[in-house]
Amino acid sequence: MEHSVKLEVKELRKIFNKQEILSNINFTVNEGEFLSILGPSGCGKTTILRILVGLLPPTSGQILKDGEDITFLPASKRNMGIVFQNYALFQNMSVLGNVEYALKFHKDLKKRSGEIARGVIEDVGLIEHINKKPHRLSGGQQQRVAIARTLALNPEIILFDEPMSALDADMRLILREEIKNIQRKFNSTMIYITHDQEEAFALSDRIMVMDYGEIKQLDTPEEIIANPSNDYVREFVLENLRKKIDSLVKYVKPEVSRNSMLSGVWEKIDSFVKNKKAGAQ
Ligand SMILES: Nc1ncnc2c1ncn2[C@@H]1O[C@H](COP(=O)(O)OP(=O)(O)OP(=O)(O)O)[C@@H](O)[C@H]1O
Ligand SMILES: [Mg+2]
Repeated sequence: MEHSVKLEVKELRKIFNKQEILSNINFTVNEGEFLSILGPSGCGKTTILRILVGLLPPTSGQILKDGEDITFLPASKRNMGIVFQNYALFQNMSVLGNVEYALKFHKDLKKRSGEIARGVIEDVGLIEHINKKPHRLSGGQQQRVAIARTLALNPEIILFDEPMSALDADMRLILREEIKNIQRKFNSTMIYITHDQEEAFALSDRIMVMDYGEIKQLDTPEEIIANPSNDYVREFVLENLRKKIDSLVKYVKPEVSRNSMLSGVWEKIDSFVKNKKAGAQ
């Protein structure tokens, strides 16, 4: 299938207080793609996202959207939406008020703000809560309000910064499905930041694995499992994923052998760990 490139990031660098936080970041995101940025705390994920949406200027490098240079375009002109971890809702406004608020500053959308807001509130399954204030909603529902507010502006690209980290495990699984459904329905391009390996594998078309300030691998989940490009990816992604699956398999379904779940992966990791230990001696 031919992919059209939606976003292209070229040689992006960011220096904070003489420290290089991002060094030579290059990647593309295709139209309609779900790309996760996976990496440990402090590796620069949020910094990339802030630069992409225009909240922070890069030290150097270029960002193209549909081939047009947007590196210095104001955030309000980029047609990108962002969903944060902490929802950032107005506590004194209802669900409807929160979603409508985002539309009030748009010349074209302002007139139809009520109708548009109702539509997206329906899309995220909150229509019966439309008049409630945020404190009367669960964490998952509040995050859906934040998603609806972003969707209302019909952005070409939606960026999520660890939107699930404040939620419990059940709610994460539900919201994960909903985000995937929203992507299918709106055919939007999504960039999703997480430090949770499992979440990245469950959601993504491709995963960008980051270490401090750099990209270690950018591939499909299948390719990362089959051909991790270096020791960092093997350890940070596959070893951690294996630990999670192993602990589940042990308790949930003892009869399912590890190998039947992800054939061949464990052997590769085992031999990697063995070789590494042998090398260290
Ligand atoms: N405004 C700033 N001024 C100086 N340093 C900053 C600033 N913002 C971020 N940093 C530093 O840049 C590095 C990357 O931060 P960033 O927030 O991008 O990490 P992250 O991958 O999103 O981490 P987390 O998973 O904890 O959210 C960190 O060392 C951080 O301290
Ligand atoms: Mg962050």
